[in-house]
Amino acid sequence: MENNQRAQWGSNFGFLMAAVGSAVGLGNIWGFPYKLGANGGFAFLLIYLILVVVVGLATMLGELAIGRITGKSAVFAYRDLAKKWTFLGYAGVAAGFFILAFYSVIGGIVIRYMVSFLLEMFKSGAGFLGMGSGEYFGYFISNAGGSIFFHALFMAITILIVMGGVSGGIEKFCKFAMPALVVILLIVIIRSITLPGAGAGLAYIFKPNLEPLSTLSGFFSVLRTAAGQMFFSLSLGMGCMITYGSYLSKKENLMTNSIFICIADSTVALLAAIAIMPAVFAFGLEPGGGPGLLFVTLHEVFTSGMGGFVGSLFGFLFYLLVFFAAVTSSISLLEVCASFFIDKQQLEGKKADRKVISGIIGAIIFVVGIPVAMDGLGGGSIIKETFWFNKWGFIDFYDLISEGILMPLGAALMSVLIGWKLKTKIISDEVAASGKGIKLKAYKFWDICFRFVVPIGMLLVLWGQFLDFGLI
Ligand code: TRP
Repeated sequence: MENNQRAQWGSNFGFLMAAVGSAVGLGNIWGFPYKLGANGGFAFLLIYLILVVVVGLATMLGELAIGRITGKSAVFAYRDLAKKWTFLGYAGVAAGFFILAFYSVIGGIVIRYMVSFLLEMFKSGAGFLGMGSGEYFGYFISNAGGSIFFHALFMAITILIVMGGVSGGIEKFCKFAMPALVVILLIVIIRSITLPGAGAGLAYIFKPNLEPLSTLSGFFSVLRTAAGQMFFSLSLGMGCMITYGSYLSKKENLMTNSIFICIADSTVALLAAIAIMPAVFAFGLEPGGGPGLLFVTLHEVFTSGMGGFVGSLFGFLFYLLVFFAAVTSSISLLEVCASFFIDKQQLEGKKADRKVISGIIGAIIFVVGIPVAMDGLGGGSIIKETFWFNKWGFIDFYDLISEGILMPLGAALMSVLIGWKLKTKIISDEVAASGKGIKLKAYKFWDICFRFVVPIGMLLVLWGQFLDFGLI
């Protein structure tokens, strides 16, 4: 009965688009390209891909399997498997809550830039008010009213999609948005690599540079960076893939699906690098990462660099792409939070109202995100100076709780649960449910990943986050 009521994906393709949509997000666009270039180019790429295989893939498979075995979202999935570990589910929901609070503020800025470039196509100055890139960004984030308005708009879109349900909302949107994203990305790549001087950007991202790896501490620093990027980018460690896996039919192959998601996410990250860096270098700009890259450097590429109607057109297309990437991720974050309450009501025998629940949770997350919008992404404000955690802005504070602590700990403990307490047979049995089992050699590989490689990898991430946040 309970399972009959439970939502399911309409098709395996729809599930894949939703899962890849969750994975492909701001992390791929403002994180990967810069880290790739700054940490050794091709050498970083190799390390990153190895980590995806030995840490990311196993965690992905583990999360999807936990979801499908139990048919429940994060909290109840852990409760069913091992009651004492239920806290892992709660940690995931909390992490999703805080990530979405700041993710939505950034999503709002993306909407503003997308609309502005659209306006600029018709009338110069209509979108960015005649300001330069740095000036406009400063103006926008110091204007709390505008930031909050666009944060609200982004959140409203996220809520509306999640209200539509698993197949009628999330899947439907991702089935359209993800292929569209890839097409736009390819168009932007063609423009970017055919610019005169684009070669320097390609060299920046691909040329093997062993310098950052030449010392032991350098090597560890690159390893930490790659590991942290990898697991955030794959949406791991907070029960997101558990939740998406819980809506997946038993006849689908978990192993090929996990491999597809990992390959697709890494490919889009690499394509984003190929789209962004050649253009940055072609116009003689300095590469960077984070909001500065997304909202200042790239703005400059489209305005002072390309310029005119064509610049505005490519600017619009690019921010539309980023918008799709951000929304398909934010809906997965809201779904993790909402599905907890939906499952809770259903398990209590009540009829769960998805619309009401997603609306309320989304509204609360919106409110929690307001301080991020008010303190200019941590750029300094009354709020930053007033609160006890004034060492960081709100965005860093939320990021520390979620990405810094809850997620790596969650992923490490999950692998311990699977590898040591439940034993990895539970995963291989679930993979076999679709009729295709894991070969003995491959099974040994997964077993070692779960028991040793993933916990070590995640502790590395945790250590790296603590260093980055200046806690140790
Ligand atoms: N993976 C997304 C990105 O690269 C962000 C994201 C969405 C996420 N859902 C998540 C990160 C769950 C961790 C966990 O931007």
